[in-house]
Amino acid sequence: MSNDNKKIVLTCAQPTGKLHLGNYLGAVKNWVALLKDHECFFGIVDMHAITMPYVPADLRRSTLECAAQYIACGLDPKDCHIFIQSQVTGHAELAWILSCLTPVGQLQRMTQFKDKSNKQNESISSGLLYYPVLMAADILLYNTDIVPVGHDQKQHIELTRDLAEKFNSHYSETFKVPEAYIPKVGARIMSLQNPENKMSKSDPNQNGTLYLLDDPKILRKKIMSAVTDSGSEIVASEEKPGITNLLNILSVASNTTVKDLEKQFQGLGYADLKKAVADAVTKMFTPIRKKYNQLIADKNYLNEILKNGADAAQKKAYRTLSKVYRKSGYLERGK
Ligand code: AMP
Ligand code: TRP
Repeated sequence: MSNDNKKIVLTCAQPTGKLHLGNYLGAVKNWVALLKDHECFFGIVDMHAITMPYVPADLRRSTLECAAQYIACGLDPKDCHIFIQSQVTGHAELAWILSCLTPVGQLQRMTQFKDKSNKQNESISSGLLYYPVLMAADILLYNTDIVPVGHDQKQHIELTRDLAEKFNSHYSETFKVPEAYIPKVGARIMSLQNPENKMSKSDPNQNGTLYLLDDPKILRKKIMSAVTDSGSEIVASEEKPGITNLLNILSVASNTTVKDLEKQFQGLGYADLKKAVADAVTKMFTPIRKKYNQLIADKNYLNEILKNGADAAQKKAYRTLSKVYRKSGYLERGK
């Protein structure tokens, strides 16, 4: 299928540093599955990253490291456009136009804004409040059909749809109204140390979080010391959150159903299950870690990928932005 007939998929992620098993199974793996049949744009949103207090040198480093990790996970630059948000002109410009259609009250009511602003003692930036409008611009700039996101971003996609419809009716038909795509499988990976909580990079107990770039010895150690449940049977059930989590991880990592795994592990002990999880996770992460090390050692190649991604994104972004500017009543440049 030529790119002209393919639906457009766009998703973005903040350059927050190290990716963990939850990010990989809950997000990145699902994006990779969409590459073949869609035209895919993948943005690393460094402009969103400055809505909270941050250190410029860290942002610079983590943006590049994030790009390398996503490529290593299978976002092959031959099959998608990977770009850095601040390298494409149009995101902030479209956000400005959209912000003039967005009531402040609607932004103040967004769940993520309330959560993030509650956690912050320092003064809250208006960038944090306007974050969802920038996100809407990220999406609408590319005539996106489908936006794969986690459940927590659903409200932001609804705002994006509202804004697209509002612009279309206020001016004239311009934007496609995008759909959120929230995959059901691979859902929630829990912490190995506290299986009631999601695996997360902000977990104070980092032994519960498996990072893609962790050394295999560390991965094994973290998995072998995972918290388990009372009893000795290997079954997925509500009373056994630790074992259920390990079974879920093994199920996705080895492409086997949980039911089949339960049969396979009948009569075996928790240590056998942990060993199988450690083998499967290290096997899954090893090629990713190798690819990452290659990419991060060759900055020229990495920068070239990002330049090509930004060029492709820019072409599309300019087209949308000039249409939007014309409809907004702005005079054409250079006339
Ligand atoms: P975050 O690291 O919270 O910014 O999340 C980035 C993406 O990874 C989002 O699409 C999340 O839904 C997904 N994700 C994060 N943690 C987990 C987890 N423990 N299990 C499954 N998916 C997750
Ligand atoms: N807000 C998203 C998150 O925190 C990141 C994001 C920014 C995004 N712009 C986007 C996701 C556009 C999808 C589409 O995860």
